[in-house]
Amino acid sequence: MGLFLMSVSVLLVLGFSCITSKLVDKFSKCSDLFFQGKPPVIPGILEDSEAQDNCYKIICQKYKESNRFATLYDTTKKIPLFSAYRFTGPPDEINVMIPWMIESQLEPSSAEMRVPFVNQASNGDYYYDNKQNVHPSHLFPVCHAADRETAKSAFTLTNSVQMKNNLDGRWKHIEQETRTIMNGQCHDPKKRNKVLAHVLTGAIPGNNKLNKRVNIPSYMWMAFCCYNSTGKSWVSQAYWALNKEEREHEEKTISKKSLKELQDFLSQKWVKNVQLFESNCAKKTYNPLKAA
Ligand SMILES: *[C@@H]1O[C@H](CO)[C@@H](O)[C@H](O)[C@H]1NC(C)=O
Repeated sequence: MGLFLMSVSVLLVLGFSCITSKLVDKFSKCSDLFFQGKPPVIPGILEDSEAQDNCYKIICQKYKESNRFATLYDTTKKIPLFSAYRFTGPPDEINVMIPWMIESQLEPSSAEMRVPFVNQASNGDYYYDNKQNVHPSHLFPVCHAADRETAKSAFTLTNSVQMKNNLDGRWKHIEQETRTIMNGQCHDPKKRNKVLAHVLTGAIPGNNKLNKRVNIPSYMWMAFCCYNSTGKSWVSQAYWALNKEEREHEEKTISKKSLKELQDFLSQKWVKNVQLFESNCAKKTYNPLKAA
C-alpha cells in the first residue's frame, strides 16, 4: 500500500495523549536542515530543539533513505506548525503530482491503522467536509524541492494545511517569487556557485475545524535566511497571509516583510518571543581570506 511509504525518525513514546508533558522529541536527527543546526525557538512549544509537550511531534521527513525536510506537527490540532528545509535550487521547476501519504509512525499502532487516525489528518477528512472552501496545501512546497524524490516527499499530509481556495493563487505566487529570489541571490558562502537558503513555512492555528477534526489555520507564513552573494551579507525575508475567504480581508498581493516584522506578528497572533533563525539570521560576514 502506498500509504506507508513515508518513514520518519521520530522518537516514539507510548501513549500519544497530550496530557503528560514529558520532553520526548528532539530535532537532533535532522538538525542539519536548519540554519546553524538550530531549529526555531517557540516558547512553550519548541525550545532548545525539544518539543515541550507530548502533543508536538518532531518529524524528520525521511523519504527513500534521506531526510528531505523537517516538520513540527501538532497531533491535537492535526496540522503541522512549520516545515523547515534547505533550498538549493534547481533553476528548473519540477512537476510532480502523487497521492498524499500519511505518517504511519504517528499512530499508536501501525498494525491497526484505521481511519479516522488518532493523531493526524487523513484524506477522508478533506473529502467528507467540503463546505469550508479549503483544500490541502503544502507547507514545504513542491516548487522549492531540489529534485524529484524530494518533491515527492512533500506529499505527506503531515506537511499539509487547509488553505482557503481564494488564497491559493496568491500564496503560489509567493512560493514562486521567493524561489526566483533565492535562486538568484542566495548562495552557499563557501561555494559561491551553489544556491543555498534556509526556509521555514508555517501556519498559525485558527478557530475552525474541517470535519470537526483538522484545524484550519488563520494565517500562513514563510521566512528565509541566506547569504546574499551580491550584497555579501546575511539576509532574511518574510511573508504572511490571512487564510480567510471573505473578500474584505483579501489583499491583492502579499507584501514582503522583514524577519522582525514576522516575529512581532507571530508574537501578537500566536506565541510571544518566537525566534525563527539562530541569532535572527545574523552571522559574521563570511571572510574568504580567513576560510581554510
Ligand atoms: C542582495 O543584495 C543586493 C545588493 O545589495 C540587493 O539588491 C538585494 O535586494 C539583496 N537580496 C536580498 C534577498 O536581500
